[in-house]
Amino acid sequence: MSDKKLHHCSFCRSHKDEVTKLIVGEDVAICSNCIDLCNQLIVEDKSPKSPKKQEEIIIDPYSIKDHLDGLVIGQDDAKKVLSVAISNHYKRINNPPTNLEIQKGNVLLIGPTGSGKTLLAKSVAKYLDVPFVVADATNLTEAGYVGEDVESMISMLLSLADGDVSKAERGIVFIDEIDKISRKSESTSITRDVSGEGVQQALLKLVEGTKCRVSVAGKRKHPQGDTVEVDTKNILFIAGGAFVGLEKIVDSRVNQSSIGFGANVKYKNEKQNLDKLSPEDLTRFGMIPEFIGRFTTTISLEELSLEQLVSVLKGIKNSFIEQYKYLFSIDGIELEFTDEALNTIAQNCIDLKTGARGLHTEIERILMPHMFHAKRYVDTGIEKLVIDKELVNNPKSLV
Ligand SMILES: Nc1ncnc2c1ncn2[C@@H]1O[C@H](COP(=O)(O)OP(=O)(O)O)[C@@H](O)[C@H]1O
Ligand SMILES: [Mg+2]
Repeated sequence: MSDKKLHHCSFCRSHKDEVTKLIVGEDVAICSNCIDLCNQLIVEDKSPKSPKKQEEIIIDPYSIKDHLDGLVIGQDDAKKVLSVAISNHYKRINNPPTNLEIQKGNVLLIGPTGSGKTLLAKSVAKYLDVPFVVADATNLTEAGYVGEDVESMISMLLSLADGDVSKAERGIVFIDEIDKISRKSESTSITRDVSGEGVQQALLKLVEGTKCRVSVAGKRKHPQGDTVEVDTKNILFIAGGAFVGLEKIVDSRVNQSSIGFGANVKYKNEKQNLDKLSPEDLTRFGMIPEFIGRFTTTISLEELSLEQLVSVLKGIKNSFIEQYKYLFSIDGIELEFTDEALNTIAQNCIDLKTGARGLHTEIERILMPHMFHAKRYVDTGIEKLVIDKELVNNPKSLV
């Protein structure tokens, strides 16, 4: 190892005075120019790999379900049905039949708040590596009204696909709170005079498959025009909603023969049972028949049980507890929850009817004083923080 060598880039032989920076290792040196070049090569190398990855993704229902099992607690039946629907959808897109028209089957997810509807849809999209957009049905309007018209969802999808139309056309759009645009809802918004039925009508074509022109906001790939045509026929629409009161409608239809009893059925503490759901129940709920007709797969999710909520807290990849453990570990504090504490947190979410959605809020509430004082804990020699039931019920600092 000569002195002279260390003053020159081992790759391009430039002297250190000729370049911005020369990074010297034990036997080699590299200059800033060569680092830039290597960086470019790596970036270029990465991009053509993405489409290849698409083909590698296994879209058989069993593999999809297996993937979902690692991320979504419970909802076993829902995961199975969704996996089959997703697999059929992408099979159809990837192998378009020549002399046969296979109708697109969009998916309707029915389940209480915080049961994992959005999570399911998001996880599937991530697995398939397709662009994914979540839109709130209550923000959508018919064209011509102030607000987001339905085509803005496609515009967002295109933007997420980096302006790549063919990628956007394989994407998934999740429309949340679809039950809030039922005919019966008086208005989707107090500030806008838009009927739910109008929004359903506006969605019909888009959901079934239509060519729409959308703007490509801020994307460089289409500098010549600000709008491009996107065909929605292969875009999968997943609609989700809680549909509060739907089981009563199902029940009253099923129990029509025993009029008088049906009306008195109590639903408290009973799991929502939508096994016998038929499209006409959804129509009676306030969805227009044409709209329902475009969502051929209906999947119902169950309210998560206490044990399942505890699993969401600690028994899953990237669980909340794991995340906060990490945060505290940065300060050098070991965080632990007793089983009793976890059960109490889960029970609070059941009582508040927030499902798993409330878990995060609960944890934040409980850990707030400790996060605030973390530095002081360390200074006073506290290395381990055990959250017990008492600290769940009455979050307070230990210093
Ligand atoms: N079944 C579940 N398994 C794991 N986590 C869940 C589940 N359901 C909900 N969650 C958690 O709660 C959060 C909110 O859930 P979300 O999917 O938005 O519920 P929904 O759309 O049914 O109201 C998710 O981000 C996730 O952290
Ligand atoms: Mg949701």
